Formats: sequence, C-alpha cells, structure tokens
Amino acid sequence: MGFDVSTLALYLWVLVATVRAGVIRLSDEHEDEMPCRTYTVNGLQYLDCSYRGLNDLPAGIDYDAQVLLLSNNNFITFPTSLKNFTRVEVLDLSGNHLSRPLPSYLQEWTTLSTLNLSNNNYDTWVSDGQRYTIKRLDLSKNKINSIEDDAFKGMSRLHFLDLSENRIYDLPPQVFAEAENLDSLYLCRNYLSDVPRFQSHSMRVLTLSSCQITNIDVNSLAGMTSLLEIDLSINQIETIPDNLASNTLQELDLSFNSISSLSDRTFSSLPHLAVLDLRGNEFRDVWSTSHFSSNPFLREVRVKGNRWSCEGFSVNLLLTYEFLTKEPPKITDQGSLICYSPSNVTQLSWQQAYIRTWHPNEATTESYTTIAVMIGIIIGIVITSFVCRGLVMINRPDPPRAAAETTVLNLNGTIPESRVDSVVMRVPLREEDLPPSYDEALLMPRLNSSFHSLPDFVDEDEEPARQYRRSRSIGDLMESRPRAGDRRSVRRTVEIHIT
Ligand SMILES: *[C@@H]1O[C@H](CO)[C@@H](O)[C@H](O)[C@H]1NC(C)=O
Ligand SMILES: *[C@@H]1O[C@H](CO)[C@@H](O)[C@H](O)[C@H]1NC(C)=O
Ligand SMILES: *[C@@H]1O[C@H](CO)[C@@H](O)[C@H](O)[C@H]1NC(C)=O
Repeated sequence: MGFDVSTLALYLWVLVATVRAGVIRLSDEHEDEMPCRTYTVNGLQYLDCSYRGLNDLPAGIDYDAQVLLLSNNNFITFPTSLKNFTRVEVLDLSGNHLSRPLPSYLQEWTTLSTLNLSNNNYDTWVSDGQRYTIKRLDLSKNKINSIEDDAFKGMSRLHFLDLSENRIYDLPPQVFAEAENLDSLYLCRNYLSDVPRFQSHSMRVLTLSSCQITNIDVNSLAGMTSLLEIDLSINQIETIPDNLASNTLQELDLSFNSISSLSDRTFSSLPHLAVLDLRGNEFRDVWSTSHFSSNPFLREVRVKGNRWSCEGFSVNLLLTYEFLTKEPPKITDQGSLICYSPSNVTQLSWQQAYIRTWHPNEATTESYTTIAVMIGIIIGIVITSFVCRGLVMINRPDPPRAAAETTVLNLNGTIPESRVDSVVMRVPLREEDLPPSYDEALLMPRLNSSFHSLPDFVDEDEEPARQYRRSRSIGDLMESRPRAGDRRSVRRTVEIHIT
C-alpha cells in the first residue's frame, strides 16, 4: 500500500513538473509575440510581423525593412502605413483577406521584386495601367476566375507568375504577350479544358498539371516561341494531335492522362524533345522505334504504370526495348518495360517475352540448370522406387507357390499355425480380390476382436469352407454364419483350389 502511494506521488510530481514546463514555454512564446521581429540575414533587413492577427501595422516599426513578412494576418486591405516603407524587396502578404487592386504607391517601390499574395480573396485580376518592378508574383490559392487581357501589361520585369489553385476556366491568349520577361507560369489546379494558346516570346516553363484538360490543339504551343518545358500531367488527355509543333520544347510531361496510342507523327514536329514522361497512361501496344525517328536528342523516357500487351510477340518488342535501354539508357527504371498481357508472359520484360517465344533454345543457362535439376530429381525418384519395390519382394514371407501348398495342406486340416497367416495375407494380393463394396460391407458382421485373436480362432475352426471366407475379412473370422449368394466369396474359393 505504501508503495502505491509513493508511486502515485511520483506521478503527480511528474505531472506538475510537465504542466509547469509547458506554462513556462507558453509564456516565452507570448513574450516573443508583442512587437514585430527585426533581424538581418545575408545583409537583408527583415521585419517579421507574420502570424500576429493584425488588421493594420503597429506604430513604431522600422520602415527600413527590405523583407517585409506580413503573412497570415487579418488584412482586408493593404495596411495604411505600408506606404512609409521605401526599400522593400520582398513583400509577403500571403494568408490574408485582400481582394483590391495593388495600391499605386507600389509603383514607386523600385526595389520591389517579390510580391506574395497567395491565399487571399482575389477573384479577378485587372490592369490599372500602372507599372511595377515585380519579378515574382504569387497569386496562387485565390478565387481568380477572370483575368483581363492586359492584366500583366505593366509588369515588364515579371519573371515568375504563380496562378495555381484558382478558378480559371479560360485565359486570353494575349494576356502574357507584354509581360516580356515572363519565364515560368504555373497554372496547376485550375479548370482549363484546353491547353491555352498563349502568345509569349519569353515563356520557357508552363505548368498545367491537374487542370481537367481534355484537348491539346495542334497549334497550342506555336505562340510560345521559347518554350522548353510543359507539364500537362494529371489531366484527361486522350490523344496527342499529330504534328504538335514546337521548335524549342525539350521536356514534355504527359504523365497520368488517358493516352493510349502514339503514331509516327506524334512527336515528329518536336525536334528538340529530350525528356518525355508518359507514365500512368493507357498504352497497351508496344511503341515502334519509328515514333521517335525525328527526336535525335531524346534522352529520357518514363513509361511506368502502363499495361503493355506483348501480344503478337513481334520483333518490335525487342527493337523498342533496345532503343530504350541501350547505352546510354533512356529508361531509368527498366522494370517498367514489362508485359501485362497475355498471361503466359505477364511480368516478363518485353525482351524476355520475345526471346522466350521465338528463341526458346537460347534460354539462359539458368533454365538449363533448372531442367537438369528436374531430370535429376525424376531419376532419383525412379531409382528409389525400384529399390523399395525390390526390398518389399525380398522381405515378403511367402512366394505365391508356397502359399498354394499351404492352402492344400490347410484343406487337409493339418496345417502348422504359422502358415495360416500366409494364406490370409496372400489372398488379398490377387487381382480379382477387390475390397468389399459399400453394400457388401454393410452385410458384413462387425469386427469386435483384435487381429491377434486370429491364430487361436483358426485353430478352433475345423470347417474348411469357412476358412476361405476367413481370408476375405477379419470380420468373417468372428462369424460362423455362412454367407449365401456371395459371388466374390465363391469365386475366391474356386481360385484358391486352382492355385
Ligand atoms: C507613415 O505614414 C503615415 C501616413 O500614411 C504618416 O502619417 C506617418 O507620419 C508616417 N510615419 C513615418 C515614420 O514616416
Ligand atoms: C508565398 O507564400 C506561401 C505561403 O506563405 C509560400 O508557400 C510560397 O512559396 C510563397 N511564394 C513565393 C513566390 O515566395
Ligand atoms: C504465349 O502465348 C502465345 C499465344 O497467346 C504464344 O504465341 C507464345 O509463344 C507464348 N509465349 C511463351 C513464352 O510461352
């Protein structure tokens, strides 16, 4: 009992200590919260007012900050004293409730290069005819559904634009034409049904992942004269138009769509294609190497997650396999070049399926070894069975002839005890002497004595006719009743006499 109390006291002490430590830590955090924090990293002066629940900026802050972090507050409009800053380079207003156009004084911030308005309430983005020096603009996670034609006209330095996770159904092709330095555009998770036919001489990276795109127009890339990479993954594209053209495109990501076939003209107008991602599509027929004859710079192809059919076992399997895997390999994961059907080659590589079908004799030494082992095992089994059979013959107590003599002797009623067992054993070995049928078995008397009682019983029994029946089953030995009409019994009796 005393032990229990002290254990309880210990637990209580630990509990109190834990709670107190927690309280101390909480109050530490609280102290930290009051004014915005200022610090310097890499020579840049930071003012961090993020996560403060602010509606406006507090008074008495340092307006010399170069990196102004105001994210995750409650700003509905741009805070009034924001205009007191003069040399901000990075303005992070993500995670607020902003929805109005940029304040005009931002034009005068000639140092401003990054503006983060991610996760706010914008539902439209309009042009106000002003010019900004912004290079990186993050408008992701808003509710933008319409963008004016000249919305980015005043952002001639814009290099990176993120419009992911908005509600954009359509974009005017000219919208980025005058953002003449726009390099990377992110439009993931919108509701575009077509690849937009943007006009841009600067755009190099376009990301259109998870946009519910079903259609690629043959000219969709033509207006982007510098495009290097396009990400069209996780859409609902079923076909790539023949002669989809771009003189610059190097990386084409079409993974996780519903594409089922390629033709010799699919990539024929993409002369600089180097990286092709076609994972997770619905390809079944193994491609022909001719599909890639216009793509001399192709260096990486991703194909995992397609259910290849090797049906037909044409030499194409081998050629395409070699095209994709020969040094330097274009496939990083060779395990992806495997047959899904037909069932006799499931899980085999394209190469193995072809070789095993058409050149089974060229199978690897491995299969020879397997065959040799199998033959060895079979021979072993045969020899063992012969040896066993030989041993059984040697150990058999009486050859058939001796048994016949025994029977004759037995009929005369002058048998030695040991020979009776021989008779009993020999008869069931005869071909005609099948075990009793079920019906016959039902007619038989029940066995209620052990086999050991047999010799004694035989001694007592003087009737020769009954002894033959005895050999039929142990049950008979206990039964003195004759079994009239038993054909099998009669046949056996006759047979023994012959023997
Ligand atoms: C900040 O701007 C407000 C007006 O927006 C002005 O009244 C105030 O004096 C400015 N503060 C400083 C320190 O310049
Ligand atoms: C904008 O802020 C969000 C979250 O605060 C962050 O994930 C994102 O990377 C930022 N964007 C840029 C361009 O820095
Ligand atoms: C698999 O079955 C096809 C018939 O569907 C046959 O042509 C081919 O030779 C078989 N391949 C192997 C490796 O057994």
